[in-house]
Amino acid sequence: MKKQTPYIALASALAVAALVAGCSGMPSTAELDQLTQDILKTSFRDQGQAKTDRLVLDDANRECMNADVAGKPIDEKVAKAIEAANLQTIKWPSDGKFLGDWKEGEKIAQSGRGMTWTDAAGSQNGGNCYNCHQISKAEISYGTLGPSLYNYGKMRGVSNPDAPESKAIVEYTWGKIWNARAYNACSQMPRAGHKGILNEQQIKHIMALLLDPQSPINE
Ligand code: HEC
Repeated sequence: MKKQTPYIALASALAVAALVAGCSGMPSTAELDQLTQDILKTSFRDQGQAKTDRLVLDDANRECMNADVAGKPIDEKVAKAIEAANLQTIKWPSDGKFLGDWKEGEKIAQSGRGMTWTDAAGSQNGGNCYNCHQISKAEISYGTLGPSLYNYGKMRGVSNPDAPESKAIVEYTWGKIWNARAYNACSQMPRAGHKGILNEQQIKHIMALLLDPQSPINE
């Protein structure tokens, strides 16, 4: 039998919930949450490297979603705790070198490929950065959910990424790409390092794209 799409399944379950509500009072939020979780579980299955564990919410996902549903910003203390926990997950470059080759970085930033069940497990993913950011002026197709990263290093005064005065911005940029929630609890930016989307070497190349004075984005 053909599997129901999640939306149809959700719609019919909500219709049942509404019917129940009509007879015996509204189902509680907890009951509706459980119902939704059950539907999600039965609507998707593991295939290739795309596993249903992606549906499991971590604390940050849950808190940020609840704040969103309530239509108010996340509690400041909760936000600080999420940021502190995510900061702990950052793996710093194993050889202490933060920058790779900006030309490779540009290719990774351009590519949105990866993570689907048709991609072989273990194949390298793209960073998908242009989907949300302007970066190089040469690329005219980009999303605007995130701020423009054009002139990223130049605007922050990074003329020599190895100089001690560049340390803070270099580390912040690495950390942000590794796990954006370390600096903004409810960031919409994918946690490239933390979620295993990009490996250490790929992040070095992206770092060079943003911070190498030779990179065309800093000209
Ligand atoms: C789904 C959208 C999305 C994708 C994809 C994305 N970002 Fe972001 N990014 C954001 C948003 C939104 C912000 C600003 C809010 C925040 O700080 O989290 C941001 C912030 C940043 C910042 C901080 C800018 C500053 O001035 O502090 C950097 C650096 C950055 N992104 C780099 C990248 C890189 C490199 C990639 C690709 C590996 C990437 N982003 C992919 C949405 C995205």
